[in-house]
Amino acid sequence: MKCCNVYENNSIKKVLGQTLRPGGFSLTEKSVRFCRLEPEDNVLDLGCGMGATVGYLYENHGIKAIGVDPSEKLIGFARRNYEFADFILGTGENIPFEEASFKGVFAECALSLMEDLGAALKEILRVLKKGGWLVITDVYAKNPIHVKELDDISINSCMRGLHDLKHLEKRLKRLGFDIMLLEDCSDLLRSLMVNIVFSYGSMDAFWSKTTDNCTQVCKFQEILKACKPGYFLMIARKGDADYERYCI
Ligand SMILES: C[S@@+](CC[C@H](N)C(=O)[O-])C[C@H]1O[C@@H](n2cnc3c(N)ncnc32)[C@H](O)[C@@H]1O
Repeated sequence: MKCCNVYENNSIKKVLGQTLRPGGFSLTEKSVRFCRLEPEDNVLDLGCGMGATVGYLYENHGIKAIGVDPSEKLIGFARRNYEFADFILGTGENIPFEEASFKGVFAECALSLMEDLGAALKEILRVLKKGGWLVITDVYAKNPIHVKELDDISINSCMRGLHDLKHLEKRLKRLGFDIMLLEDCSDLLRSLMVNIVFSYGSMDAFWSKTTDNCTQVCKFQEILKACKPGYFLMIARKGDADYERYCI
């Protein structure tokens, strides 16, 4: 059973602002350029939170992305913040679109929160066009041997869903994705943690505040330390495409 949706907690905005992830828009921008996304391309922001990426893509690249998220609270913010865009309540495990609807799917710090990662990856594959791009930015465990211990934690934060990168890569390849880019971006997670300690005094204080003093905070912190969290950017592509245009 999960409780305390950390990403819905109002105090998290104090350190993160509108983007609920490390690094703000830096990896979003890099990915748009890498995938050469253009204004006519249909893009889905899966787990869009408060809609910041949807806003960014439109304001900086003229791309009209659609946001999907299961949180009524965050979708409410998104709709108020970006009236020009469409935001739909839904989950990654059951994406409310027809097959081959999108040229790109962004999942920024969102796959780590999905109850059924396998189902979500299949759904992403289904809604992507051939040759379509999947952009993942997320947290991972440099020491994945301890990841299973996080299953007993009820705090609902992406840190609870640290990826085992090798496992994720294998899964994607098995589904028919090609991995086009994989980059360690752990410096972005480190700067976020420094900002948190600066704002709250300690990581303990931050977790207590954002989980309404959940009793599992100490245990959660211990397991996280053992996992050695890092952050990554992975760009994968649905196979069987005409790659000529991209010359990567
Ligand atoms: C850490 S926040 C990131 C939000 C946004 N992508 C950003 O970077 O600002 C994770 C988001 O994933 C959403 N989420 C949780 N479970 C999900 C699911 N099963 N399918 C899609 N999104 C989900 C949450 O509601 C939350 O908005």
